[in-house]
Parts: sequence; C-alpha cells; structure tokens
Amino acid sequence: MRDLINVTDLTEEEIEELIDIASEMMAAPEDYLDLAKGKILGTLFFEPSTRTRLSFTSAMMSLGGNVLGFSEAASSSSAKGESVADTVRTVSYYCDIIAMRHHKEGAPRVASQSSTVPIINAGDGGHFHPTQTLTDLTTIRLTKGRFTDMTIGLCGDLCFGRTVHSLIEAMKRYDGIKFILISPPELRLPKYMRDDLDRDGIEWREVTDMEEVMPELDILYMTRVQRERFFNEEEYLRLKDTYILDMDKLETAKEDLSILHPLPRVNEISTEVDSDPRAKYFEQVRCGRFIRMALIAKMLGLK
Ligand code: CP
Repeated sequence: MRDLINVTDLTEEEIEELIDIASEMMAAPEDYLDLAKGKILGTLFFEPSTRTRLSFTSAMMSLGGNVLGFSEAASSSSAKGESVADTVRTVSYYCDIIAMRHHKEGAPRVASQSSTVPIINAGDGGHFHPTQTLTDLTTIRLTKGRFTDMTIGLCGDLCFGRTVHSLIEAMKRYDGIKFILISPPELRLPKYMRDDLDRDGIEWREVTDMEEVMPELDILYMTRVQRERFFNEEEYLRLKDTYILDMDKLETAKEDLSILHPLPRVNEISTEVDSDPRAKYFEQVRCGRFIRMALIAKMLGLK
C-alpha cells in the first residue's frame, strides 16, 4: 500500500489483517515500543482536530517513532501562499510517512502526487475520512463480532459528514448490510452516493424520524451537523439540533445496539447516554490509537 486516500484502497482482507494487528497491539503494547524506532511521521493538519492528530501522534510514539508537523494552516507557510503540492513535497524530505487533513476535497490525492513518502488522508473536506472508518470498523468488530447482516442507522449530517461517506463505502461491501439514512432533507446523503447504493444493489431507505426506526437498528451512527461546511449560519442554527439522542429515544432500541459517533459531539447525544452500555463512542476513541499504530506499521513495512 503506497497511500491511503479512500477506505476502498484497502480490501476486506487487508482491513481484517489491520484489525488483527491492532488487537495484538492492544493486548500487549509493550511488545511494539521500538517497532518504528528511527522513523518519523509528519502530521500536516490544515484543519482543526483533536482525536485524529493526537491519536496519530500517540500511535507513532507508542511504536518508538517521532512526529513533526503543524496543527493549523496559519502556522505553516501555506499562510504565505505556498501550495499544498510544494508543502507536501518539502515535508516528505523530512519524514517517512505523512498524515494530512485539509478542508478541500481531493487535497490528499493531489498531495500524494508530489510526495516522496506515503500519504494518509486524515480527512478531506466533506469527502472521506478513511482512518476514522478503520476506527469504526475496529469498534464494530469488537462490539458486534461481525461485519455482516446488520441494519445500520446513520443519523445527522449525511451531506457533509465525511465519516458517514467512508463508513458506507466500507460497509456496503459486506453481505446482509442495510442502511437507514436519518436526516433532514437539507442534509441528505449526496446524490452520487445514493446512486452508487442503487447501482450496487444495496438495501437502503431515507427517513426523517429517528424514533420510528430505532427498534430495527443494530448500529446507530450519530454525527454532528458540520458547521464549518455551511455557507449560511442561519441555516446551520436551524438544523443543528434536529436530532438529540437521549434515554427516552433509546427506550425501543435493541439491547445489543451499538451507538457510535466519530466525535466531537456538540449536542446530538445527551451526556446521560454516556453511561449506557450501548454507548461505544469512547471505545471508538480508544480503538483509534491502536488501529493507527497498525496502519503505520503496515504502511512502513515494519515487522
Ligand atoms: N473523529 C475525528 O475526526 O475527530 P477530530 O476532528 O477531533 O480529529
């Protein structure tokens, strides 16, 4: 694997292998302390992040490697007008692998063409977020024990939510997967993705009411409304609290439902849900570090 731009760059077998490696790393992290000794990860974050940047940093440090980079465009020479291509070409001479987040869809693909080292897409605009999906898949395998025969409800901002787009791309490859898309009409899944689901013969439907479908769900994937992608603040304010998951709404949910959220959350899951055993979103955070350790090790060819 040279670069990871979209989760479909990985086969189902490669994903299983990465999760196997991550599980071994979770069980015995002390065995991997020197695996990436002498290697450097560059973290180029042109957009804000807590989990993705810090879990990549933690992952590389946990493997004995080093990390350099920036956490906002304003502290890099892109603030002086430098192109993404030139920035990435420059940084690729300083490190062995790069994780990059950018507000423009497709920027990591452009970066991969000028980089001398592998590029990992750490989120590009409203497009894709493949390493969040690896985190989600690791959590799903841990909590459900399978990727097949499930009804997955995706709720919130399905238009701009890049984690939703990547999760659909990954999960639609498995047998017996049904998607229920829960959003206001303004935040529907993009048409090209709905067309792809039809073309691929995947069972899906759209609803606006979360409670109506709650009893059917095996996984409920909540998302925040992506303020930073809106052109109109009034529209954001009107839509931001469309869905707020609380204990009342979970009354009809299955006992073994897994509630996921890529985080950060704003208002869309009441904090009272956090202590319900079905809430798995902080488990996702924990998995994020180990699956990124496995990914770095795999992409650098470390044994
Ligand atoms: N899930 C996720 O991408 O979180 P951050 O924006 O904090 O990295």
